[in-house]
Amino acid sequence: MHRLVEGRVAKRRPAAERPRRAASRSGMDPAERGGAPAAEAPRLRPERLGDHVEAVRSQLRARVVGQDAAVDAVTEAFQIHSSGLASPDRPLGSFLFLGPTGTGKTNLVEAFAEVCFGDRKAMLKIDCAEFSHSHEISRLIGSPPGYLGHQETQPYLSAANLVRHQTEACPFTLVLFDEIEKANDSLWQLLLGILDKARLTLGNNKEVDLSSCFIFLTSNVGSRAVSDILSPPLGFAPRATEPEASVHRRVEKAVLWRARRTFPPEFLNRIDHRIVFHRLRDAQLDAILRLELRKIEARLERRGIAIAIDYSDRALERLLGEGTDLEHGARPLKRVLERRLVSPLARLLASRQLVGGEVIAVDWPEGAPDVEFALTATRRRAAAAS
Ligand SMILES: Nc1ncnc2c1ncn2[C@@H]1O[C@H](COP(=O)(O)OP(=O)(O)OP(=O)(O)O)[C@@H](O)[C@H]1O
Ligand SMILES: [Mg+2]
Repeated sequence: MHRLVEGRVAKRRPAAERPRRAASRSGMDPAERGGAPAAEAPRLRPERLGDHVEAVRSQLRARVVGQDAAVDAVTEAFQIHSSGLASPDRPLGSFLFLGPTGTGKTNLVEAFAEVCFGDRKAMLKIDCAEFSHSHEISRLIGSPPGYLGHQETQPYLSAANLVRHQTEACPFTLVLFDEIEKANDSLWQLLLGILDKARLTLGNNKEVDLSSCFIFLTSNVGSRAVSDILSPPLGFAPRATEPEASVHRRVEKAVLWRARRTFPPEFLNRIDHRIVFHRLRDAQLDAILRLELRKIEARLERRGIAIAIDYSDRALERLLGEGTDLEHGARPLKRVLERRLVSPLARLLASRQLVGGEVIAVDWPEGAPDVEFALTATRRRAAAAS
């Protein structure tokens, strides 16, 4: 090993000749502290999360399918906050979510809100498309004194609003700026201050502190490049054999390239995590189908209607087949479920063919134009038979 002595490289003396370093930084020899010598010291495992954070991570993974890197980035920031090690003068974490449409960018923030506060809407959400003119910014920060409407405008990003959803267990706020590429220059200036110093000056010159906020930004930049990769013109289709990791790398490269051309470097540099979401393939869409079916049952339960629904395998397969669209993520699948299941269920309830307490079978036979519903039992009959 070599080291620099007085500007030149000097050969290190053999270990035996070197004076023994008397003590560690604490001023005490490890042996004096009663600690094990380094060779035998048990290895620590910094990759392990706290139990509570681990639970949050698995709840997020159950709600957001196929986006583990994004979920892990959120839980990592959450762990730093939970351990009390977050920097006091920056937001708790800032995330830029990019990538194909309908793949869970907004859904991840909503799922985080649901896991923490029991409500998917428990956040401050700023739809940047609504702030494409600079005068609209007063809705966020209020107007300066003396301006028309100064008293009436309650700024959305006021200190009171920022703590509105906080609880004792979760003393932080989620702030989501959706579709940031549509923001105007004044919104950009606000964002830069928020990301850098966790500070925002309102119209009345009061400062608001955003250091207890997780800041999420989503953008669709590069969506044209993404669809060129995922659904290219005939003859350029990705080889079915191309590994998914390679498709994702191409999408990621194209999106980040576009992001660097769209957003100023001082903005991108202030963001802790830039994540390109993965496209959803058959396996993920299948898992989302099952999640969405449970959500439909939950809608019925919320109305106090208990209907047990049995789906045949071919019904599930055909629903999935019709809803699969590798370019547009989960939205087409959700539309198919609304049309093929929710609408007919609504009609069956309205015409009192179903009143609650039934068991029904849902099938979609080959050649049938639509899903078929059959009453297998009413709860009373089912109970008597058992
Ligand atoms: N990865 C996923 N896991 C579970 N559900 C998903 C996932 N992706 C999308 N969904 C479902 O599809 C809906 C739409 O997804 P979401 O709003 O998150 O899309 P997005 O990525 O924000 O797209 P856009 O860029 O167009 O805003 C969600 O509300 C959710 O029900
Ligand atoms: Mg979105």
